[in-house]
Amino acid sequence: MTDTSPNMQPEDTCCADLYQSPLVRYLLGESLHPGGLALTRALGKELGLTKGQYLLDVACGRGASAIMLAQTYKCRVAGIDTDARALEGATKDARRYRLDSLVAFVEGDATHLPFPPAVFDAVLCECATSLFSNRQAALGEIARVLKPSGRLALSDVTFRPETLPLPLDSSIARALCIPLGTGPEQYVHLIQGAGLTIEGKADYSNTVEKLLDKAESLLGIGRRTALATKANDQQLDQIAVALNCASELARQGDLGYWTFVAGKP
Ligand SMILES: C[S@@+](CC[C@H](N)C(=O)[O-])C[C@H]1O[C@@H](n2cnc3c(N)ncnc32)[C@H](O)[C@@H]1O
Repeated sequence: MTDTSPNMQPEDTCCADLYQSPLVRYLLGESLHPGGLALTRALGKELGLTKGQYLLDVACGRGASAIMLAQTYKCRVAGIDTDARALEGATKDARRYRLDSLVAFVEGDATHLPFPPAVFDAVLCECATSLFSNRQAALGEIARVLKPSGRLALSDVTFRPETLPLPLDSSIARALCIPLGTGPEQYVHLIQGAGLTIEGKADYSNTVEKLLDKAESLLGIGRRTALATKANDQQLDQIAVALNCASELARQGDLGYWTFVAGKP
């Protein structure tokens, strides 16, 4: 699989403005992936994090995972993202939790990580690779900055169909980062292509249904949603149809969420 495939969504289909939009933040919360912090906690365990280790969170968004893992394991965490506004919020949160001595956020692109080789004990990358302009290059960068014997934990959306159904052509659907024609085997291929060894993979597709159910019920609150998100009725209707369509795809097994743990030899 190459990232020049016409099926890959271009970088700008899922932009920073989308994640900062009141509607997306209202529906998805601060932890911008299915499974939320509970799934991040499971990945932290798989990474075997310990006090003082160096962890990199690639595409850290609002920093919820980075902050929680620093708090839990007392490890040192660098979060990197292209979204300067998300990083501003993340930095404020780290300060609020008095974790700013352990956590730092840097603006940068996953395909050009601004770190020397072999400096991190572990790398986390949640729900983001489909947004990268070149996923193989980003995985190569992750492998480069990992120390030998270091580990990667990656979680991401799977979507088997090669085309997007019409109702899903909306901003909330784009926020779900749907990677056309991508099953778990493609992620395995990408990770192995970066020279990493797969140590485990797990199907967490049930978390997609839960996330969609939560978003659908929040949307059902109607007037309160409109007030909280400044969205109009037409936008809310469009999102409701998109969420319904996504739920159907998740029930059919076409839309899912998987985790992968890999080691650097
Ligand atoms: C769905 S959010 C996930 C955020 C976070 N990992 C989480 O799970 O809460 C995807 C994130 O990827 C970031 N992103 C997109 N393209 C990127 C790139 N090329 N390099 C770094 N971050 C990127 C976006 O700005 C956004 O914050």
